[in-house]
Amino acid sequence: MKGWIKSIRQSKGLTFITITDGLHDHQLTLKDGEHLLEGELKVGASFVAEGKESVTPRGLPEFVVSKMTIVGKSDDEYPIQPKKHSQEFLRTIPELRGRTKGIQSTLKLRHFLSQELHKFFSMEDFIQYWTPIITQADCEGAGETFEVKTDWLEEKLTVSGQLHGEVGMMALGKIYTFSPCFRAEKSATKKHLSEFWMLEPEMAFYSLEDTIELSERMLKSALSGVLQFEEDFKKLETDTKHITSIIDKEWIKLRYEDVCKEFGLVFGQDVSSEIEKKLIDKYKVPVYVTHWPKDLKPFYMKKDDKVAYCFDLIFPEVGEMIGGSAREDSYDILKSEMEKAGLDMEKMDWYLRTRKWGTVPHAGFGLGFDRLVTFVCKLQKIHDSIPFPISY
Ligand code: 4AD
Ligand code: MG
Repeated sequence: MKGWIKSIRQSKGLTFITITDGLHDHQLTLKDGEHLLEGELKVGASFVAEGKESVTPRGLPEFVVSKMTIVGKSDDEYPIQPKKHSQEFLRTIPELRGRTKGIQSTLKLRHFLSQELHKFFSMEDFIQYWTPIITQADCEGAGETFEVKTDWLEEKLTVSGQLHGEVGMMALGKIYTFSPCFRAEKSATKKHLSEFWMLEPEMAFYSLEDTIELSERMLKSALSGVLQFEEDFKKLETDTKHITSIIDKEWIKLRYEDVCKEFGLVFGQDVSSEIEKKLIDKYKVPVYVTHWPKDLKPFYMKKDDKVAYCFDLIFPEVGEMIGGSAREDSYDILKSEMEKAGLDMEKMDWYLRTRKWGTVPHAGFGLGFDRLVTFVCKLQKIHDSIPFPISY
């Protein structure tokens, strides 16, 4: 047995130690006079132990130690003691907080969720595609980018892998990217990071409706997949009702105009987080809001003279989980939209050229992965969904 000591309790000639090997917790039992100890037992210390598996009189598994060697010592100043620490305090020690059961389980569920998503796309015959982090392509519009500058290069950090993902789609049919994205906007909310991870599928010959259907199936598959990790939900001190109550129901699809009628919005107004919350309170499942006013949406979306063929998926607690759309596939219309948006046509010519030969109706979306982890683990803030949050 190898790992780290989490707590130590003594009683009538016995010492009970709770340890973690990273993946699981175990109980070690040390009987006075029946074991050898090298080093000092302290919370936070690492160890190697010899002994044998057994069961306690109450029938719980234990490991009875014959020899225990402390490998890396600890002391009473170790900040993670066996008591409840506030998330605020833990955020001040990102280098240690993963050793608490809550964050440890969050990190594991983050891994399992990622695996479930990769599995889903594999089963659906998608190819993972790799997009640049350093790029000129400001996909979502100006003013929110981080600059990258050296004496030989002047570019930006990517806000989305989508535009390059469309190049991949033209080569491979159905692709997805899973990549860090960067937004410099000064949003200090519980659901914004400056560096976050986005999963972006892009599909040839898909309509908006096909894409919405795919996104619902994808999320239901990933959410069902992580339900088996009961031990981690227990350590997070949460049940899984927030997941089980949505995965067997059909999610709501509303047009933006219906949301306007219901909540007294004027066509062209954005949907606030208060209205997002009201939608969820009413329907109790995730809600797709589709066909937004074209002026609210970026240059690459397919539009008619009034609306863009797009959707936002609103989720409980975290708000917008996914944004997606059908893409403009006509060379001429896209060119004029890019010019209207004021893009550098010379630098962005590669994107326009995707529509020059063999253009195809296509669509895709972006899932905010950290928001998905925040929802699954019922976290107070997105900052607790990732080991080292970077935010305004
Ligand atoms: O809606 P967004 O901006 O869409 C795009 O970037 C498209 N190019 C995606 C595509 O169609 N391929 O971002 C997509 C999702 C949001 O719904 C949200 O979940 C997440 O990315 N997101 C953020 N997550 C954390 N912190 C931020 N600052 C985020 N900004 C967006
Ligand atoms: Mg969006």
